[in-house]
Amino acid sequence: MEITAGNKLLDLTKKTAIVTGAVGIGYGISYRLAEAGANVLVASRSKEEVDKTVSELTSKGWKVKGAIVDVSKEEDVKKMVEEAVSDFGAVDILVNNAGIYPSIPVHQMTLDDFEKVLAVNLKGVFLCTKYVSEEMIKQGKGGKIINITSIDALHPSSVGLAHYDASKHGVWGFTKNVALELAPHKVWVNAIAPGGVTTPGVTKLQKAMHVPQGVDMTKVLETFLAKIPMRRMGEPDDIGKVALFLASDMSSYMTGTQIVVDGGVLLS
Ligand SMILES: NC(=O)c1ccc[n+]([C@@H]2O[C@H](COP(=O)([O-])OP(=O)(O)OC[C@H]3O[C@@H](n4cnc5c(N)ncnc54)[C@H](O)[C@@H]3O)[C@@H](O)[C@H]2O)c1
Repeated sequence: MEITAGNKLLDLTKKTAIVTGAVGIGYGISYRLAEAGANVLVASRSKEEVDKTVSELTSKGWKVKGAIVDVSKEEDVKKMVEEAVSDFGAVDILVNNAGIYPSIPVHQMTLDDFEKVLAVNLKGVFLCTKYVSEEMIKQGKGGKIINITSIDALHPSSVGLAHYDASKHGVWGFTKNVALELAPHKVWVNAIAPGGVTTPGVTKLQKAMHVPQGVDMTKVLETFLAKIPMRRMGEPDDIGKVALFLASDMSSYMTGTQIVVDGGVLLS
């Protein structure tokens, strides 16, 4: 077998990617895919976030456009796929990254709280996968789908996230089934399970956390970091680099897998 040069394997020129979620991990992934030469459609429900990310990445000379989308709404998702095709001519890579993780104890959780998390984290992944895979099958040149799950798809990271953990276990199961189903079409489907990554969403979660009187938040965070063998939180780029690997020919023999990117935290 001929061995292709490593830099060529990572080259995404002429490929088009849709990345859902415009800040945090979504930004880290969009950055690496665009840098590798892909056309990137950054899709999020917030126009402000989309505009900021598009303006930062296009200022580097990269081909990036934005779409305002709520991934839990079927019409929005259909339109997003149409926009990618009309803007760039095809869709080759989908990264299902948009997600929410509000912390609520299960006995205080309303049905609405539960359904909202499932709607974005699980139904959103289904809708984007449905319409993108339809397009990929029609194009007939294969594709890559990358689902951002969480270590919570394997093991709970904290209390208050029962709805979130249910959604992420769901996405992992969905990933494996869809990988099997889309393999005859050469569409490879994998997941990335991040541990704690510093993002706007995590900062919001930490601010909203109820700290009981007398508990020192600095000590709580120190204890949290002490549980991570690498002794640091993840950065969006730690996930962006693995997404680039899965989006590229570097991962030529992989489908139906989940890569844990957590600084070793599941070991502790
Ligand atoms: N940050 C972490 O520690 C961590 C750990 C494990 C998994 N994850 C997963 O990574 C993904 C990204 O997390 P993050 O920390 O970057 O989050 P974040 O809150 O910082 O950013 C989320 C992005 O998704 C967008 N979004 C939210 N709901 C949407 C919707 N309905 N439609 C379209 N866009 C929507 C937001 O506008 C935002 O751009 C999520 O799926 C999350 O579960 C994060």
